[in-house]
Amino acid sequence: MIKVAVSGALGRMGTTIGRIVDEAPDMELVGGVDVREGTLFGKEVVPAARIDEFLKEKKPDILIDFTVAAAAVENIRAAARNNVALVVGTTGFSSEQRESIRSAIEGNVPAVISSNFSVGVNIFWKLVREAARELGDYDIEVTEAHHRYKKDAPSGTAKTILEILDQELGDREKVYGRVGATERKNEIGVHVVRGGDIVGDHSVLFAGNFECIEISHRAYDRAVFAQGAVRAARWVAGREPRIYAMQDVLGI
Ligand SMILES: NC(=O)c1ccc[n+]([C@@H]2O[C@H](COP(=O)([O-])OP(=O)(O)OC[C@H]3O[C@@H](n4cnc5c(N)ncnc54)[C@H](O)[C@@H]3O)[C@@H](O)[C@H]2O)c1
Repeated sequence: MIKVAVSGALGRMGTTIGRIVDEAPDMELVGGVDVREGTLFGKEVVPAARIDEFLKEKKPDILIDFTVAAAAVENIRAAARNNVALVVGTTGFSSEQRESIRSAIEGNVPAVISSNFSVGVNIFWKLVREAARELGDYDIEVTEAHHRYKKDAPSGTAKTILEILDQELGDREKVYGRVGATERKNEIGVHVVRGGDIVGDHSVLFAGNFECIEISHRAYDRAVFAQGAVRAARWVAGREPRIYAMQDVLGI
C-alpha cells in the first residue's frame, strides 16, 4: 500500500485528489494538511503549522501538494526534512521560490513537479513545440481561461507554453493584453480570461498570411489533473532523489 497525504486537503484539487486516493485499491489516504483543521474522507486534516509532527506520526510515502506558492515551499521543505516523496501541482512560484524548492529536493527526496498533470496538456505542450519549430515566422498569441477563484495569472500551464516557445524561438518579448495603439512586431501576445467555473482552457494561435493554426486544450473536470497527480504519486515512489516532470512519468 502506498501511503498518501495531501496538502491543500480542503481545497478544490485537494478534495478531488483525496477522493481518488481513498478509492484506489493500492493506496492508503493517511490524512492531510491545510490552513485549518478538518477531515478528508474521514481522515484527519491538521493545520499547516503542525506539518512536521503530522508527517512524523503518519509516515506517508508521498505528499501531494496543491496549495499556494508560499505555502508549497514550506510544505516541500517539511517533506524533504522528513524523507517523504513529493508530487507538486501548485503554480505561481517566483524564481527565488523555484530555487529554494530545487535545493530542498535535490539529493534528498524524489519529486514530480508539473504546472499541469493532465495527459492531454502534456501532449499539447509537445504539439506546441513541434508547431513552433515549423512556424517561427508566424504571429503567436497565447490565451488561457480559468474560474473566477484562480489566484495566479497567467496560469502555470501558460507559463510553461511560453517557456517552450522561448526554447524554440529565442526569448521574444511578451505583451500581456493589448490596449491603445499596439502595432504588432515580433512579440508573443498573452491573454487571460477569468470567470465562472471554467476548469482550464489553453490555446496557442499561429497566424500567418491567409491561414491560422490553433492548438487548444480544454479540461472539463479537475479530476483529470487529480488522476494525473495520483499516477505521478504511484510512479515517483522509490526513484532517485531529484525533480522529475510529468513527461518523465508518461515516458514522452
Ligand atoms: N498542476 C496542475 O495540474 C494543477 C491543476 C489545477 C490547479 N493547480 C494549482 O493547484 C493550486 C491549488 O488549486 P485549487 O484550485 O485547489 O485552489 P484552492 O484555493 O481551492 O485550494 C488551495 C488550498 O490550499 C490551502 N492552503 C493554503 N495555505 C496552506 C498551507 N500553508 N498548507 C496547506 N494548505 C494550505 C487553502 O486553504 C486551500 O484549501 C493552485 O496553485 C493551482 O494553480 C495545478
